[in-house]
Amino acid sequence: MVKNSYFKEKGLSASEMAESLELHKSGDIRWDEGKLFGFVYHPGTRYTKISENYYKAFFYESTLNPSTFPSLKEFEKDIIRMAADLLHGDAKVTGNVTSGGTESIFLALKVARDLAREKEKETQGNDFEVILPVTAHPAFLKACLYLGIKPVIIPVTEDKRADVNAIEEAITGRTILIACSAPCFPYGVVDPVNKIGRIARKNDLLCHVDACMGGFMLPFIEELGYPVPGFDFRVPGVTSISLDAHKYGYAPKGASIILYRDRKLRKKQFFIHTDWPGGIFASTTFMGTKSGGPVAGCWATMRHLGREGYREMAGEVMRATLAIRDGIQEIEGLKIVGDPDMSVLAFTSENTDIFSIGDALSERGWHLDRLQFPDGLHLTVTKLNVGKEKTFLKDLQKVMDNTSALNKAYKASKTTAKVADGLLRVLPPSLFKSLSRLAGSNTHNSGKRSSYKQAALYGVSATLRNREKMKRFVEDLLDDMY
Ligand SMILES: Cc1ncc(COP(=O)(O)O)c(C=O)c1O
Repeated sequence: MVKNSYFKEKGLSASEMAESLELHKSGDIRWDEGKLFGFVYHPGTRYTKISENYYKAFFYESTLNPSTFPSLKEFEKDIIRMAADLLHGDAKVTGNVTSGGTESIFLALKVARDLAREKEKETQGNDFEVILPVTAHPAFLKACLYLGIKPVIIPVTEDKRADVNAIEEAITGRTILIACSAPCFPYGVVDPVNKIGRIARKNDLLCHVDACMGGFMLPFIEELGYPVPGFDFRVPGVTSISLDAHKYGYAPKGASIILYRDRKLRKKQFFIHTDWPGGIFASTTFMGTKSGGPVAGCWATMRHLGREGYREMAGEVMRATLAIRDGIQEIEGLKIVGDPDMSVLAFTSENTDIFSIGDALSERGWHLDRLQFPDGLHLTVTKLNVGKEKTFLKDLQKVMDNTSALNKAYKASKTTAKVADGLLRVLPPSLFKSLSRLAGSNTHNSGKRSSYKQAALYGVSATLRNREKMKRFVEDLLDDMY
């Protein structure tokens, strides 16, 4: 018997476990109050009861071996057909269910790389290149890093959409794929996919559309009559699309979909090893063993909601978004960035520090993301926020009515930023540690991100021209947190 071990000899009883569950959850954000934007996409308990049953029925099963659990394979095939249908793909469109947007994007890039290798595309010893708008999700950069691909980042135009001229100029003999977003996370605008698809075709390149955010929203708002730029398989030249069921697909977490225009592309995604003493190993996606729960939960959500359920929710979310958007525009000093195409939007302030506004909103229980370059606040409006738009706007107005307090906070945060920046130059490691602890303890102890003055952290970030230092700070922060 091991004494004084952190891993205790005796297990906790059922009632102790129940108590512990409540205790553990008590520090987390109460997303069911509707004051968190994004992160949790919940369709309401009316729908989740069914998907929870399906999830629970399969959460110990694995998707790895399709002959052991044919039910999971059938769920996956059905999800792919539904998704292909939704994005106007023909019978040749195929794909797989993955663990999330990051994996879907990773696979699209792996396919591009392996296809280029097979074609023996000439690189003169350099890496293959993927063209990315600066607004593309960092998952692309992660994939490039893991796959040994060089990301070629191009700017966006004033409307925050990918600059097509810059794309054309960036194409070299090593380019294998052009990526674009529908919409991009920071500003909720859809890149000019029609033009990008054309460029890709003209240059015999692959074109991946990251519709992780919009894949389950744009088709339905289009059906409702909202203007939606072309982004799906109707656009010639688009060769693959990622869409996240665990975002606006309202499926439990751990479910995204990668679709390819034809099977030839998807074959490059598979991993097969025929000479292993453990047997012939084959997997369709990145993961090996993968819980059947998210696949079954995703299937149940899509089948149970049907197009009608999604369209209804998309309508509610859009109406709430437009109310919020109009309300923000009407508040003096605030401005929406660009012209968002769906329910993801960002705003900035001309006369008040936007992060201090964010902190003041946090004190009132609202949780918004922070953007940089330029500084901004970010909202992903979901079903959970429907009905909360008036309270949000009232609180935002109250915060803005008190600009003198905000400006005082701004000065303080600017000073903190300056001091921190100065210290970072002389004492990086110790300051990293203390800043990390501050951020770590504030996010963890109370579980409320609201208690942490993010204005100061972003102030440090904005003043730090040396991004390598910022990277090291975040590295320490993560290290301390876990
Ligand atoms: C546009 C976009 N693409 C990709 C991703 C990555 O998805 P995941 O977090 O599921 O890996 C996200 C996540 O927010 C996103 O907004």
